[in-house]
Amino acid sequence: MPEIDDPYALRDASVVDGGDVPPGQREQVLHALGGQGAGKQMASVPRLVHRKHDTVADMRRSRSGKEVNVAEPSRGRKDWRSYDTVAGTYDRVRTEFHALPAADLVALLAPRAGGRVLDVGTGTGAAALEAAKSVGPEGIVVGLDPSLEMLSRARDRGLGRVVAGKALDLPFENGAFDAVVASFVVFLFTRYETALFDMMRVVRPGGKVGVTTWGGTEDEFRRTWREVAESFVGKDLLKDAARRASPWEERFSDPRHLHETLREAGLRQVDVQRRDYRFTWSVDDYLAGRETSAAGRFLHDMLGEASWERFRQRVAEEFRSRFADPIGDTSDVILAVGVKT
Ligand SMILES: C[S@@+](CC[C@H](N)C(=O)[O-])C[C@H]1O[C@@H](n2cnc3c(N)ncnc32)[C@H](O)[C@@H]1O
Repeated sequence: MPEIDDPYALRDASVVDGGDVPPGQREQVLHALGGQGAGKQMASVPRLVHRKHDTVADMRRSRSGKEVNVAEPSRGRKDWRSYDTVAGTYDRVRTEFHALPAADLVALLAPRAGGRVLDVGTGTGAAALEAAKSVGPEGIVVGLDPSLEMLSRARDRGLGRVVAGKALDLPFENGAFDAVVASFVVFLFTRYETALFDMMRVVRPGGKVGVTTWGGTEDEFRRTWREVAESFVGKDLLKDAARRASPWEERFSDPRHLHETLREAGLRQVDVQRRDYRFTWSVDDYLAGRETSAAGRFLHDMLGEASWERFRQRVAEEFRSRFADPIGDTSDVILAVGVKT
């Protein structure tokens, strides 16, 4: 896979983890939408019944006579699971916050000056830019991500080396890096064992791998946002979408599971820590941040513009009626680091 100077040169490259709808799930969603409940869900979501007819769902429609959409990407339409459509917003409202745990992760890895670090799922570059401070001008930091739009933002922030790709068949030699990081990424991998195996491959013996994941604590802000979202598309559909985009979020919100997984991947001296990060957001920025989540991307794609705007208005009204602006939000994050022997 080439290192690129102009991320847009690879605009047609695939942008999401291939085959990330596990076998059987498409059918489950189709089933959910095709049954009694679907009518109710669709009634509150007018755009659901007006999609183009080139999706898996539409194939079912032609057989059953019903029009349903399960948010599978149609040809020529962006896959909602990609971060491409939210890169600008993510860059503006999420990067500064993600830099906080990223800085702690890099401190735990402590890459030496002049060292080489790979940031898998670099996004807008939060962890890579922290690593770059550690390794200094003699070091090399590479940011890898399937989203060209995210990579473009990372470049704008000063990350010089970006590579378009996924954590699969990483285009690097065995042992090329002193450290590999993946900040808020491992729960997105369809086959996390395979991805971790490849991340391990490109670390030198004695080198380190570090990851962060969400601790998963629910709070009143997340709950309120989710409840409004559910009132638009239904609980099951939203949950299923989040699970498809981020299949291992629950597993890796448990420090014991994360520890076990990193050990199984071959890391030793695995250190797993849970830390809280408090951040103050304006209500507008907090809500913009939620829009970049899997649920937000799914909802936008599914509702279409008119209903999406209604959702945004509703959720903003709800927040303003319930919370002071700005809001202080605490996220619990799990940081894990291990050594390749
Ligand atoms: C939640 S963002 C985290 C970005 C950045 N690490 C941060 O902390 O802000 C997840 C990123 O992982 C990328 N991603 C998704 N699937 C991936 C895969 N299979 N391999 C590598 N990166 C992936 C997405 O495009 C997105 O930029």
